[in-house]
Amino acid sequence: MTEIDLDHRRQSKAATAELRADVVAGLTAARKWLPVKWFYDDVGSELFEKITQLPEYYPTRCEREVLATHAGEVAALTGARTLIELGSGSSEKTRLLLDALSGHGTLTEFVPLDVSESALAAAAGAISGDYPGLTVRGVIGDFTQPLDRLPGDGPRLVAFLGGTFGNFLPEERAALLRSLRGVLAPGGWLLLGTDLVKAPDVLERAYDDAAGVTAAFDKNVLRVINDRLGADFDLDEFEHVSCWDAEHEWIEMRLRASRALTIEIPGAGLTVRFAAGEHIRTEISAKFRQGGVDAELSAAGFALDRWWTDSRQRYGVSLAQAVLPR
Ligand code: SAH
Ligand code: AVI
Repeated sequence: MTEIDLDHRRQSKAATAELRADVVAGLTAARKWLPVKWFYDDVGSELFEKITQLPEYYPTRCEREVLATHAGEVAALTGARTLIELGSGSSEKTRLLLDALSGHGTLTEFVPLDVSESALAAAAGAISGDYPGLTVRGVIGDFTQPLDRLPGDGPRLVAFLGGTFGNFLPEERAALLRSLRGVLAPGGWLLLGTDLVKAPDVLERAYDDAAGVTAAFDKNVLRVINDRLGADFDLDEFEHVSCWDAEHEWIEMRLRASRALTIEIPGAGLTVRFAAGEHIRTEISAKFRQGGVDAELSAAGFALDRWWTDSRQRYGVSLAQAVLPR
């Protein structure tokens, strides 16, 4: 059974109002920035899937290796009846968890949650077809908003994969984990994927591939603003840049104006001026160490139960359990 919580008109109007507010806040700031979720319309979600297949982009392959090796342990340790996935996208690697949990005989419900309607509908439909007997309840939603309640019977396992956790600033990550802890009963489980710190050249290449797919993904946020708010960004006037910030241990993606530009954004009632070379920060992608992940989890009320990496220690997956507040 598939059920998708959809009310297109309401969702679309609310999303445009939110985009307008984010564009006003981000593009009038002294250092221009945009939230990452606006990459992911149907075009952006497809471009992300292409990124996952690039030779330079190792995180998806590494996470798949970890899940292929340890999904059985996840199933045995959690005995989850409900699997909830935040930022589920295509849920392609999640099938390793679905297989293991189904094989274990406990899983009854899968709840993928994503802002991308097209990615969610495709994934929920395909999984529903391939796992008869599993209730698939897709939720279009923003996991940075209050998570009022999470559906499904316990034991519940929340998967937050792909390294998406790293696309948020430390204080946003703390809020996200606290919000998740607030809706998970003690004993509830979290499976968290985090990319690890490594040589800057490997990282910079992963975010600036030779075929230019990441550049197209980065610029897609401008196309979304043109589409939804009638802006006149010329994508060719912006250059995609990826740089390693050693102090914060994150990759920063930027769009740099090739010359002085004036952009009209009628849907936001805004005129935005760029000096030549001025940039918009479009994404951070934080890279982690085991100790840091452990500290962030425990500060939010989770106890780290297992820490796994791929064979080359490029990517970490944590299994943590919600604990009673002390
Ligand atoms: N988990 C998948 C997809 C990662 S791409 C994987 O591992 O391959 C990041 C996903 O998170 C996209 O599908 C995007 O639409 C979604 N996303 C980004 N910000 C979000 C937010 N605030 N709320 C819900 N989904 C979000
Ligand atoms: C979804 N997220 C974890 C990706 C990342 O690696 O930070 C998004 C991405 N940006 C550029 N390439 C991939």
